Amino acid sequence: MTILIGNDHAGTELKNEIMKYLTDKGYEVENFGTDTKDRVDYPKIGQKVAEALAAGEGDLAILICGTGIGITLAANKVPGIRATACFDTTTAHLVREHNHANILGLGARIVGVELAKDIVASFLNAKPEGGRHQERVDMITEIEKKYNK
Ligand code: RB5
Repeated sequence: MTILIGNDHAGTELKNEIMKYLTDKGYEVENFGTDTKDRVDYPKIGQKVAEALAAGEGDLAILICGTGIGITLAANKVPGIRATACFDTTTAHLVREHNHANILGLGARIVGVELAKDIVASFLNAKPEGGRHQERVDMITEIEKKYNK
């Protein structure tokens, strides 16, 4: 499985930890984020990763900024993307199972490294449940289509 990853300056350290965690577990990882702490604009990274995922360059993605919020807000503007920041493991598996989220957001200034790894594992190990959840996800897609003609 290929995981796309992106981060701004606030997320560089956590990104490095998560990349190591993922490669140790055997995932392929594509890094779209900054590797320094020099300021960069999170919307640009969110867009880059979201467009790559929507183009089929990876299976799922992880976006990291200070809160996990700004970068996922940007990613969600790309059709087909369902990005959500998670701060606990329960939400992380539910957003995959019920909302079919395809991008996990992490807040490097909010969650510690060990919790972040558990959140990542919870997200990646969960599977979309389909059925009534798929119908609701389809409703979200219909809203998206209405504004992307
Ligand atoms: C950068 O200082 C910070 O604003 C950014 O990482 C993020 O938290 C935005 O949502």
